[in-house]
Amino acid sequence: MPIIKVDDVAYPTLQVPDLDLQEKFLIDFGLHRLERTEDKLYMHGEGSQQYVHVSQKGDAKFLSVAFKAKTRDDLEKLSKAEGFSDIEKIDAPGGGECVWGIDPDGIKVEVVFGIKEKEASSDLDSWKVNTGGKLHEGFERVNVPKRFKKGAYPRIKRFAHLGLNVTDVGASFDWYHNHIGIIISDDLRLPPDYKMRLGIFARLDRGKELADHHSIFFIPAPMRSNGVTGLNHVSYEMVDIDDVFMGHEILKKEGYNSEWGIGRHYQGSQIFDYWRSPFDQVHEHETDGDVFDNTVPPNIVEVDKDGNPTEPEMGPSQWGPAVTSTFANDKGT
Ligand SMILES: [Fe+2]
Repeated sequence: MPIIKVDDVAYPTLQVPDLDLQEKFLIDFGLHRLERTEDKLYMHGEGSQQYVHVSQKGDAKFLSVAFKAKTRDDLEKLSKAEGFSDIEKIDAPGGGECVWGIDPDGIKVEVVFGIKEKEASSDLDSWKVNTGGKLHEGFERVNVPKRFKKGAYPRIKRFAHLGLNVTDVGASFDWYHNHIGIIISDDLRLPPDYKMRLGIFARLDRGKELADHHSIFFIPAPMRSNGVTGLNHVSYEMVDIDDVFMGHEILKKEGYNSEWGIGRHYQGSQIFDYWRSPFDQVHEHETDGDVFDNTVPPNIVEVDKDGNPTEPEMGPSQWGPAVTSTFANDKGT
């Protein structure tokens, strides 16, 4: 039985040697500065979260991920768990409190509560989509042209999920399940006997309320990153599909390195686009993902039978380029 069930993801904290370069990349990526100090940078999106990305000055390194608790009582409960801190005040804009523990690979996991929200941007509305269906029926946008400003920055709704390169996928899942209540959406297994795991996509248990298909994705470091554990990628949900493409255009123009995309995943169904930051930390734009309540049981995926059977991939594309050889490597972990 999990100690608590968290309500949402909150933000990652990345350590980088140059906050100027980091801020320029994050603005091009679609975020906005909330606050910058000598050694910290807080960035927000269009949603109501005070901030969705934290950078700290130092050698490039993944420092931590934060999840949001449902209640303060949940912080109390977790603070009593073995290996977890007492409740601490968060010294950042919007205040709030947190407890933290260390996962099996030494990654710091924070659970936060009470961070003051901000007003969401009016730019959070997506355009109605004329998918039609039947000819001359079912249009959602009538007598209104669809317009995006040429060269506009992509709009980010929220921090959506993260991927971690881990020593033991099963052990990592168990730790997060036991402490914060995540559940399996897709469990990727390799032939011939489908016992060996290629990864787990796990979501939050929000009961009858909907949760993203995955808030956390575990990838075996021994297979993909020379055994080096740490960050695989951080992912941000965009307002519209157009924002993914507009973001791609800006990031390409500014000379950043594309890691993989644009395509549509099988597991989670998102349209995805992965980019390397100046410090090789992979940042993803995504939209149109699957949402599940907690009634959907874990799905065992036999990876040579799901997607493209002649070329089984971890998180392959339904359309778009095949996964790159550098995806999930040990750079930027
Ligand atoms: Fe992702």
